[in-house]
Amino acid sequence: MEPLQVIRTSQPKSKPNEGELGFGKYFSDHMFVADYTSERGWQNARIIPYGPISLEPSAMVLHYGQEVFEGMKAYRGMNGEINLFRPEKNIQRMNMSCDRLGIPQVDPEWMLEAICKLVEIDSDWIPQRVENSLYIRPFIIATEPCLGVRAAKEYQLLIITSPVGAYYSSGMAPVSIYVEDHYVRAVRGGTGAAKTSINYASSIKAQEEAKRQGYSQVLWLDGIEQRYIEEVGSMNVFFKVDGEVITPELNGSILPGVTRDSVIAMLKHWGIPVTERKVTVEELFEAHRQGKLEEAFGTGTAAVISPIGAMKWGEQSIQITEGHIGEVSGRLYDSITGIQQGKIDDPLHWRYLIG
Ligand code: COI
Repeated sequence: MEPLQVIRTSQPKSKPNEGELGFGKYFSDHMFVADYTSERGWQNARIIPYGPISLEPSAMVLHYGQEVFEGMKAYRGMNGEINLFRPEKNIQRMNMSCDRLGIPQVDPEWMLEAICKLVEIDSDWIPQRVENSLYIRPFIIATEPCLGVRAAKEYQLLIITSPVGAYYSSGMAPVSIYVEDHYVRAVRGGTGAAKTSINYASSIKAQEEAKRQGYSQVLWLDGIEQRYIEEVGSMNVFFKVDGEVITPELNGSILPGVTRDSVIAMLKHWGIPVTERKVTVEELFEAHRQGKLEEAFGTGTAAVISPIGAMKWGEQSIQITEGHIGEVSGRLYDSITGIQQGKIDDPLHWRYLIG
């Protein structure tokens, strides 16, 4: 492949205040772009100043949503080094999502090199505070101008980065969730396991409704029987019931989260029982009635580990851990962020040092 071209900005932007980053509101000085045509494959890889892109109004992504994306983070380590966290898993998942959406896959090594180079060039955008990081958003869009419903022949891969703080404005404080029993997020054979915009677009109405009722996230049930728990908003979900941690098994409609995979591996490493299986919403509310629902938490790159403090399902509302952070949730948060920030040992070899 031809060498990566770099054009640096002549007008670096001023950095936002680290105490007020929020999530995904600011963007660094540069972005990565590469083009795909069915004749030439991925080519013309370049890092250029961050800015608007030009698309024809007939670009296929605008009409039929052929798009995939990823979410990763770069962390500033204790000695100033830059760490990624299991980047190969995100790239592998991006290729799986491409496969589902009929989008050409990328060479994993080429993609990792692009991410590292972009992060290095904008390394002064990686926040210093331990609770903050540089969120990395790779995405691929169908750019071919055509209104026919078929796989596009032209695409663009872009990578942008954004200095971020906590995903939820409540930080690590437990979130409340609303069990959605009308709308569904995904069905068997659909796109639920792919990271693609449509899964998020179709969740927004339910999310708004949950917000109106005072809940910060939606918990999705399976799209067929609406009994089995799938995931929460933009996170996978775990429950600790009577000493055992359980999480819905990957069934093709749940996103195979990198943090989810890491939590399962870490729990096994600690010797804490963890099971991936079907989990019904009745079972959870029954476990709560019996005093056995000990913790609930969501996992995701953006949210890391997010304790769940309350759940509403139909007329039933329950409180979990009395508004405190559960023991396992807290330990997982400290360990995963500790590894990401280079503060603690990395027993499962997840840290990826840039440079
Ligand atoms: C992530 O955790 O990286 C995500 O992609 C969630 C995002 C939709 C905010």
